[in-house]
Amino acid sequence: MGQSLLTGPFPRIEGELHCGQVAAEELARRFGTPLYVYNLASIRGRVALFRSAFAEVDHLLAYSVKANGNLMLLHALGTMGCGADITSGGELFRAIRAGIPAERMVFAGVGKTEGEIGYALDERIMAFNVESRSELETIDAVAGERGTRAPFGVRVNPDVLADTPHAYTRTGHADTKFGVPWAEAPELYRWARERPHLDPIGIDVHIGSQIVEPEPYVRAIDRVLSLVSALKADGIELEYLDIGGGYGISYDDRPGMDLGALARDVVPRVRAAGLKLLLEPGRSLVGEAGVLLTRVQYVKHTPTKTFVIVDGGMSELIRPSHYGGYHSVDLVADPSGRDVATVDVVGPICETGDFLALDRSMPMPDAGDLLAVRTVGAYGFAMASNYNGRLRPAEVMVDGDLVSLARRRETFEDLIRGEEEPS
Ligand SMILES: Cc1ncc(COP(=O)(O)O)c(C=O)c1O
Repeated sequence: MGQSLLTGPFPRIEGELHCGQVAAEELARRFGTPLYVYNLASIRGRVALFRSAFAEVDHLLAYSVKANGNLMLLHALGTMGCGADITSGGELFRAIRAGIPAERMVFAGVGKTEGEIGYALDERIMAFNVESRSELETIDAVAGERGTRAPFGVRVNPDVLADTPHAYTRTGHADTKFGVPWAEAPELYRWARERPHLDPIGIDVHIGSQIVEPEPYVRAIDRVLSLVSALKADGIELEYLDIGGGYGISYDDRPGMDLGALARDVVPRVRAAGLKLLLEPGRSLVGEAGVLLTRVQYVKHTPTKTFVIVDGGMSELIRPSHYGGYHSVDLVADPSGRDVATVDVVGPICETGDFLALDRSMPMPDAGDLLAVRTVGAYGFAMASNYNGRLRPAEVMVDGDLVSLARRRETFEDLIRGEEEPS
C-alpha cells in the first residue's frame, strides 16, 4: 500500500516530512537541491521481505543495477548478500567496485560486445543470460580465445504479455527485441552442448516491469519449466531458473506486488524442479526508499493553469515524461492550513514534456517551499542526464540519524570533462 504517514521511509514528524529521523529541510539546506535521498533502513526491510518470502527455496537476489547503480547503495546490497543483474561493462565495473562478488552476477542485454563479454569472463561472473544465437556464438568465440568455458542461461521469450502501466516496460511477448524466440531455444541448448567453451547452466525469463499480479510470472514459469524438463530428458541438466525482476511497487494508492502471494506460486514449482531460483528485483528493492527534494523557484498563473516551477525536472527524473509515470509530490512543510489547488509541477528545462506532475491537486506551494517527489529510488538518478547543461544532483544516504553523502553534486567542470577546449 502507499507509504504510511508515520512509519514509511519518509514519515511526517510534527507535520514536517522527514527522511528516516532526519528533517528533509535540513538535508536540503546542507546539500542543496535538487537532491536524491535514500533511506537505507527501508532497503534493508525490502531485502528481508524477499528473503523471508522465498526462504523455502535456494535463491539469489541479483539486484538489477540499472534501477540505481550508486556505489554506496550497491555496497550495502552486497553486504546484505545480494548479487547483481548487470546489462553492460559499465554496470559490471560499478558492481565490482562496490564489492559485489562476481560469482553472484548475471549479465543480460541484447547487445553485449566482445569487450564486455571478455571483461565478464575475466571477472568470472556467475552466468551470461543470452539473448540470441549470434550472441552465444560470440561468447563461445571469446571464451575460446581465453581457453575457458562460459557459463550461461538462455533468456527465453515465453511470449507472455504482462499488463504493465506502459508499453515500453513489457518485454515478454513475441515481438520485442528481448530473449530467444521460444521455438528456437531447445536447439540453441543442443548446439551449445557440443561446444567446448560453453557451459549451459541455467534458463532465464524477464517479462516486464511494474507487474502487480503473480499470474503472468506463473504462466511464464510453467512454460519455461516444461522446457527445462524436455532439456533434462535430452541430457541437458540446468542448475538455475532466473525469473527476472519487474515486481511492482505502489506509486499511488494502488498496491504493489504481494511478494508472499508470488512466492506461494513460485517456490513449490522451482523446488519441484530442483533448481536454484534467481530473482532480479530493481525497483521493488529501492524504489520506495528514495525521494527527490526540489525547491519551488516560481509560481506562475496563466489564464488556464497554475505552474509550480521547481529546480528539478526531466533531467533529474524522466519517468513522468518518458513513461507517463506517476509520482506523489508532497509539500515538505506541514501542509495543514494550506489551500488545495490544482497545479502542474514543472521543471526549468526547455521542453513542454518537462514536468513532474500534471493537473495535481495538492496544498498550494509558494516560492521557496521544498517539495518531495516520492518513490524515485529506482530509475530516478539512474536515468538523469546533463541535458540543457544541467548538473546531475547529489545523492544522500540516510540510515536512522546517520547521513552520508553518496555522490556529490556535479560541477560545471564535470560538464566539460573529457572535451577538447578550444585554445
Ligand atoms: C532483465 C531485467 N531484469 C530485471 C529488471 C528489473 O526490473 P524492475 O526494476 O522492474 O524490478 C529489468 C528491468 O528492465 C530487466 O530488463
